[in-house]
Amino acid sequence: MRLRFVEIDEIKPGMVLAKELTDSFERVVTKTNMRIRNGLLEQMKVLGFAGAYLEDDISDGIYIGDPIPKSMRLQAVHSLKEFNVDNAIFMANKIVKYLRLNDRISMDSLDLRTYDEYVVRHSVNVCIYSVLLGAKLGLSMKILEDLAGAAMLHDVGNFYLDHRLVYSQRPFNSKEYEMIKEHVFLGVENLQINFAVNEKMLEAIAQHHENEDGSGYPEGLSSEDICDIAKILHIVDVYDALMTKKPYRKAYRSDEAMNYLIEQKGILFDADYVDAFAELIPFYYRGMKVKLSDGTEGCVDMNYEENFRRPRVRFSKYKTYRLNDDPACAHIFIVPPGPVETLTYLSPEESKAKERRRAEEKRLEEEARVDKTDWEHLLLVDDMVSIRKIFEEMVKEDYRLTSVNSGESALAYLEEHQDDLPDLVIMDIHMPGMDGFETTRVIREQISDDLPILFFSESAGEEIIQRCYECGGTDFVQKPFKSIFLMNKIEKLLVQSIREKEKNNK
Ligand SMILES: [Fe+2]
Repeated sequence: MRLRFVEIDEIKPGMVLAKELTDSFERVVTKTNMRIRNGLLEQMKVLGFAGAYLEDDISDGIYIGDPIPKSMRLQAVHSLKEFNVDNAIFMANKIVKYLRLNDRISMDSLDLRTYDEYVVRHSVNVCIYSVLLGAKLGLSMKILEDLAGAAMLHDVGNFYLDHRLVYSQRPFNSKEYEMIKEHVFLGVENLQINFAVNEKMLEAIAQHHENEDGSGYPEGLSSEDICDIAKILHIVDVYDALMTKKPYRKAYRSDEAMNYLIEQKGILFDADYVDAFAELIPFYYRGMKVKLSDGTEGCVDMNYEENFRRPRVRFSKYKTYRLNDDPACAHIFIVPPGPVETLTYLSPEESKAKERRRAEEKRLEEEARVDKTDWEHLLLVDDMVSIRKIFEEMVKEDYRLTSVNSGESALAYLEEHQDDLPDLVIMDIHMPGMDGFETTRVIREQISDDLPILFFSESAGEEIIQRCYECGGTDFVQKPFKSIFLMNKIEKLLVQSIREKEKNNK
């Protein structure tokens, strides 16, 4: 097969397609061997293809494979499109098994699809890259399955946002960006009610936009507080997103996307994981057109695993430059392309509208600043960021909330606020350090014997519930919880506690 990847702007009428182009559902948009005419080229641009594999003489014999079978990709895409969470996780596990059983996986092909179903297609790509990176990092099969499940579902929050916003034809303004950020919370909120989605997956989904230096969202967590699965997702998520052509910018070339990750090592991304990724994924895909520093042009026809930066480049049908191992090529390098063009300006009308919106936002913020000092006060003790975030959203309209991430912090807080104890404590059981049982025991011995403590945990056996009461807990609720159920329980305990206090005062 003679094929070479050509970026969309360089494709000319008359060239011949060497590999079919499909949409996200594997429906063929153009067939192999089709001669490109003006109409087709326009259509390819409208549909958002970053480029195409074309026939030419230089690339004779270069074969481009896919990392997973088409049918598997299609089933995964469908499970997400139908938002069938159980099926998506089932497919994620299938992808893990497939990639673990096949040691020679082809990572030499670009995923060329239309932009129409970007979120689902991107999620499957993130799943594939994540599993490969996780396996390279030596993660266990169980963790790989959690990673793959989280990867498949990491962006489902976008399904709850306006389609026109997610598929915007221009860069987001600040308000739109704030709305887009909501996809993290929406994803966690809607997935946490599903038993197939475990805590590890939820935590990773909640943290997949957090940066190493604390500049990410939604929590602004720093490196030590971000879980490993989220760190992996963050790297491959950005990598795949950069290589997607957006209506307002070209797709990054694979080497540009990889170099971006490397530039942002330790700032946005975990440095060791980026290094591992750069040893796993070729900088230049086979069939990719490159310019060399001596002025010749050619296409990449082979990668050397020991150095993905210096592949073998073919510049005529039979002649190659072996950049990695031929001493005669030691001084030759691949010339980086120019900077990726992005549309970052706003028209004067848009700027004025943006200013107006900012002023309105500020006014609404001022209005929303309500004095909560008289509200009933809850103390949440849970090590999971995602749970704390969900909880915060759930109670913010009705209660004043303080949340801490460990039993030790809860005790320190209560000791410091002996004179103004919260009205109710909501206690997780399994936490690193002091668990919920131990923390409750110390609260009962040293702080208060009537402060209501509501346990909540995914473990709900009879023995666990009994231990909750034995150590001094007031009530128990099982995770994942329905918000209405938990809110009713909180209300019930608060009313009960007020009545008891009134009784004791009489
Ligand atoms: Fe995301």
